[in-house]
Amino acid sequence: MNDLFSIKGKVVHVSGGSRGIGRAIALACHQAGARVIASSRDEAALQATGLNYLVCDITDAAQIERAVDNIVDQHGRLDVLFNVAGVNMRHAAETFPVEKLDAILAVNVRGNFLMARTCGKIMVEQAQGKIINFASLHTHSSLAGVSGYGASKGAIASMTRALAVEWAAHNVQVNAIAPGFIRTDMNKALWEDSKIRGWAEERTPAHRLGEPPDLIGAAIFLASAASNFITGQVLYVDGGLTAGSTWPLVVPR
Ligand code: NAI
Repeated sequence: MNDLFSIKGKVVHVSGGSRGIGRAIALACHQAGARVIASSRDEAALQATGLNYLVCDITDAAQIERAVDNIVDQHGRLDVLFNVAGVNMRHAAETFPVEKLDAILAVNVRGNFLMARTCGKIMVEQAQGKIINFASLHTHSSLAGVSGYGASKGAIASMTRALAVEWAAHNVQVNAIAPGFIRTDMNKALWEDSKIRGWAEERTPAHRLGEPPDLIGAAIFLASAASNFITGQVLYVDGGLTAGSTWPLVVPR
């Protein structure tokens, strides 16, 4: 029972591990005794984590191949992939610039797919592995002005199910975590606007924004043997945001 949630000794790759949610998960896995390799485009930020790292831009398939080969050469296997790297750009849908759309899809769909494919190949050969993708509250319902990102995060849920079905018999579980409103560098400017922040706190039934450490419990669970019969699922970690809303109705207590 004590080992059920253990990730001790597991080889864990966190793509997008240099900041925000990925960084919090990478550090937590390290503290839990995993052999963590963080990767992203940003070498200075990777270095600052104090973790083992690799520079890898997931828009480049050759860099992904090199990074994953490197991990397997060094550690002999790959047990867990946290596929966290993502970007967001907002614009009105009717004039959404094609270059912004391409940039979002290159990272959030193509890049995440290629990373999952490359790590999944190793895991299928080992007959064991866990992939945790990162969907979003936008996977469940939309917010105006975020159509390109929303499209990409819908794709993450479909990709998660597709890979889960294909690899279940190989003992590779593929799930996704869908964060709600989490305060990170990605959206820092948004939360500095008190009107937007107040709106998000009001909309979230827990009445607060999430912080990167709020994702750690779900991350460890999906990386551990405790989730061995769970695959193809999207787990919302959102303070109740996608469950519904509170409203100003006064009821007897
Ligand atoms: P962040 O912007 O703080 O961190 C993103 C990470 O991805 C960074 O390490 C960055 O270097 C890396 N990255 C970006 N493009 C890359 C590329 N081409 N190649 C390699 N690495 C690249 O973002 P945050 O907030 O930590 O988000 C993490 C994940 O969670 C993303 O997939 C995001 O879409 C998702 N998410 C975040 C929410 C939030 O409220 N912060 C809400 C819902 C989903």
